[in-house]
Amino acid sequence: MEEISFARAIEFSTGQKRQHMTAKPTITFAKLSAPRKGSAILLLADDLAPSATGHACDIANQLERSFAVSGFKGAFGSSMELLAPENSPLDRLTALGVGKLDTLNEHSWLRLGGAAAATFRGRGDVTIIAELNDQPVSAAQAAAIGAGILLRSYSFDKYKTRAGEEEDAGKDSARRLTIACAEPAAAKRAFAELLPVVEGVWLARDLVNEPANTLGPIEFAAAAKALETLGLVVEVLTERELKKLGMGALLGVGQGSSRPSRVVVLRWNGGKAKDKPVALIGKGVVFDTGGNSMKTPGGMEEMKGDMGGAAAVVGAMRAIAGRKAKANVVGIIGVVENMVDGNAQRPGDIVKSMSGQTIEVMNTDAEGRLVLADVLWYCQQRFQPRLMIDLATLTGAIMVSLGQFHAGLFSNDDELSGQLIAAGLATHERLWRMPMGDDYDKLINSKNADMKNVGGRYGGAVSAAQFLQRFVKDIPWAHLDIAGTAMAAPSSEINQSWGTGFGVRLLDRFVRDTCEGA
Ligand code: BES
Ligand code: MN
Ligand code: ZN
Repeated sequence: MEEISFARAIEFSTGQKRQHMTAKPTITFAKLSAPRKGSAILLLADDLAPSATGHACDIANQLERSFAVSGFKGAFGSSMELLAPENSPLDRLTALGVGKLDTLNEHSWLRLGGAAAATFRGRGDVTIIAELNDQPVSAAQAAAIGAGILLRSYSFDKYKTRAGEEEDAGKDSARRLTIACAEPAAAKRAFAELLPVVEGVWLARDLVNEPANTLGPIEFAAAAKALETLGLVVEVLTERELKKLGMGALLGVGQGSSRPSRVVVLRWNGGKAKDKPVALIGKGVVFDTGGNSMKTPGGMEEMKGDMGGAAAVVGAMRAIAGRKAKANVVGIIGVVENMVDGNAQRPGDIVKSMSGQTIEVMNTDAEGRLVLADVLWYCQQRFQPRLMIDLATLTGAIMVSLGQFHAGLFSNDDELSGQLIAAGLATHERLWRMPMGDDYDKLINSKNADMKNVGGRYGGAVSAAQFLQRFVKDIPWAHLDIAGTAMAAPSSEINQSWGTGFGVRLLDRFVRDTCEGA
C-alpha cells in the first residue's frame, strides 16, 4: 500500500485545484470615492449616519426611508439592501451595520469582512466603502475586511460534480472586489501579510474536510512535503525510521492500519541561527475508529477530522513561511490511522515509548496521547526547543467541559499560558486554562507498567494532559485540546466550513507577538 498516488494531496495543498473549483475573489484597495457602477457596501454605525463618500452616492434620502421601512438599526453584521437606487448609477447599495463604535475590537473587522461577503449576490463588481461617519478605518482594519471576505468565501466543494444552488453561490464569489479606504497603499501591504495566514487556514480546513479514504498518512505527509516550495525544510520519517527511533507508542496505534504511519518534520529558519526553535506539535489521526475499543457508529464519520491538530500545525507553518516570519519554528506531526484489524493493538497490551517509559494500553481509543508521547519526546531530543505547544483533538471530555467556543489549555508555565490566552483573544480563537496537578497525575498510574493510557471516569481531558506531561522535560509546554473547536463548530461570519482551521491564526499570532521583532 506504499504506492498510493499523492497527486490529490499535493493538489489540495498547493491550492491549484481550488482555483478551478471555487474561484477566490480578487481584492484590490483603492482611494475613497463614490463608485460609478456595480454594487456598493456602506458601513453604518448605530447612528445610521452615512459617511462623506456614502453621501456622494446620492442616496441619503432613500436610505433614511428604507431604514425606517425595513427596521434596519445598524446592529453589528446586519444588512439592508437597496436595489437600483434612484438617481444613482449603482445596481445595488447595501448598508452593513457596524453597531456601537466603542464595542469594536480587532476581530470585529474580520467578522465585518465575512458579513459583507455574505451579502454578495449575482455577479458584477463590488466596492466596499471602508469609511465610517467620522471615524477613519485604518489600513490594518481595511486589510482585515479583505481577509474576512476570503475566510468566509472558503467552501469544500471538490467532490460536488453537479451544479446545485450552493455551487452557484460559490461561483458568485468569482468577482472583483474593491475596498475603498483612506490609505490604500498601506492597506495593500497589510493585506499581503494576512494573505499567507488565510491560505494557512484554507489548507487546514481542506485537510480536515478531506475524507480518510483519500487522505491517509502518506497523502498527508505529501501535502506537508509540498510546502517546500515556500522555503520550508520538510522531512518525512517512514515506519522503518520510527522503529529505529523506538517510537513503540505511536507505532502501536498505527499497526492495525494497512496504511503505514508517518512523522513529518517541517522547519522554518527565519530567525537567528543561534536561537532555539519554538516547536508546534500536532495529533494527526487520519481516522479514529477507536480500534478494538471501538466507537459506536453514531457520528463516527466525524473522526476523519481527528487530524485537526496536525492540520493546524501544517497550516500555521504555511502561514509562517508565507509571510517569512523572523523566527525559528519547527512543526512536527504524528500521522497514523487507528483501525480494527487482526493486527490491531488490544486493550491490555503494553508498549514501550521512545522515552523508555512503558504504557499499558487500557483503551485503544485513547490513541492520540500515545502518538503525541513519542512525537513530544522526539522533538525535545532532537531540537531542544525553547518551548513546545501541542494541538490535538484529544478528548470528548473537553467538549463536555468547555463546549465549542473555547479550546482547553493545559500548561506547566504561567507566562506561556498568558501569551497563548492573549493570542487567543486577539484572533478570537479562544483558550480556557484548565487545572493540572499531582492528584490528577496519580490517576494514570498502572499496576503493570509505568502508566496506563486512561484515567478514571471523571476529568478525562485533564488526565489526558497529565499523560502528555509525563513526556515533557523541564521546558515550557502547553497542550491545546481542540476536539470541540477544530470541526463541527457553529458557523460564524468568517467560517462556514465543517473543518474550521482552528489554531492556525492563533499559532501565527503567537509566533508574531512573542518570537519576532526581538
Ligand atoms: N479523537 C477522540 C476524541 C474526540 C471525540 C475528538 C469527539 C473529537 C470529537 C479521542 O481519540 C478519543 O477517542 N478519546 C476518548 C478517550 C477515552 C477513551 C479515555 C474519548 O474522549 O472518549
Ligand atoms: Mn480515540
Ligand atoms: Zn482520536
